Amino acid sequence: MTTNTLTAPPSAARSMSEEDDFLKLKSIDHVHIWTGNAKQAMYFWWKGFGFKPVAYAGLETGNRQFASYVLESGKIRLVVSAAYGPSSEIAAHHLLHGDGVKMIALAVDDVAQAHRVTTERGAKSAWGPREERDEYGVYRTSAIYTYGETLHVFVDRKDYAGAFAPGYRPIDLPTQPSGLAAIDHMVGNVQLGKMNEWVNYYHHVLGFRQLLHFDDKDISTEYSALMSKVVESGRIKFPINEPADGLRKSQIEEYLDYYYTPGVQHLALATKDIIGTLKLLRANGIEFLRVPDSYYEMLPARVGQIKESIETIKELGILVDRDDEGYLLQVFSRPLQDRPTLFVEIIQRHGSRGFGKGNFKALFEALELEQAQRGNL
Ligand code: FE2
Repeated sequence: MTTNTLTAPPSAARSMSEEDDFLKLKSIDHVHIWTGNAKQAMYFWWKGFGFKPVAYAGLETGNRQFASYVLESGKIRLVVSAAYGPSSEIAAHHLLHGDGVKMIALAVDDVAQAHRVTTERGAKSAWGPREERDEYGVYRTSAIYTYGETLHVFVDRKDYAGAFAPGYRPIDLPTQPSGLAAIDHMVGNVQLGKMNEWVNYYHHVLGFRQLLHFDDKDISTEYSALMSKVVESGRIKFPINEPADGLRKSQIEEYLDYYYTPGVQHLALATKDIIGTLKLLRANGIEFLRVPDSYYEMLPARVGQIKESIETIKELGILVDRDDEGYLLQVFSRPLQDRPTLFVEIIQRHGSRGFGKGNFKALFEALELEQAQRGNL
């Protein structure tokens, strides 16, 4: 057993040494959303967010259990799947959680090693090393549980040349791209008092290091609060949130009330042109949170000179934050499904590696307005 360094303050965080990087995670291979209607979910990501549908599995390809679509935008790969019948685990998952992220797949060189090391370090196995084959080669996976019913799937596709995985066939639909280029970070919501446990899990089991820590002084409004710590491995960043005491119900509690277990709260998708991306997404009918106009009156004093026009930023409802390294632009969608659970953040970085701490208060006040409208504050 190594000593647990995560109870140390963030200043103790250090670069990961060779020894710590025992998993050698390369990237987020894909994010798999389990939904009630994969065909309509595909349409939403395709026509709403500008993702290109690239692969399909279902009855026509011999899959009698579930329908599944793979969509891509830049380096982002999303999979949406839905069950054909009530005995499928996708149906059971959907009954409890509604639509949500079931799997965050991580690319590795060796799925057997990843599974062995993580389970030895305390991870609960979902499945051991597995090889699936077709005429395009071998697709290798293994998987472990993380918070709630969410899985981390380890993927090795170096010997696979097909559209996505065996059982999927390529599809090609004309798409208007939105410029969404990569997953910047993915956030998990866990129960009160569990944040440190999951930060420890990511450190000890998966070799992540703690990057940042926000407490309820950073992230609170008159009514509600949350705490957040960010863990990182290479370019993969996973903030973990837990509710904190407030006068009213925290947005994290609202999530947990509707998802029924911990789970993925949001996907932050990076673009190099947030204005172009937002114009298209808004025209496509994707809804984003609005902060009060007063936010923009204070903006020039708070963030100084930025390349973008404040007028355009205000028109599109984009938020801006600055730190020592630069600034970032961000915007948050309304929930993607009926339940107030999963949403998307669009982010463009100009140097800043932060998460928009300066926007938390304005943003959470906007969120609370929506929570109150849902009768959940
Ligand atoms: Fe975020």
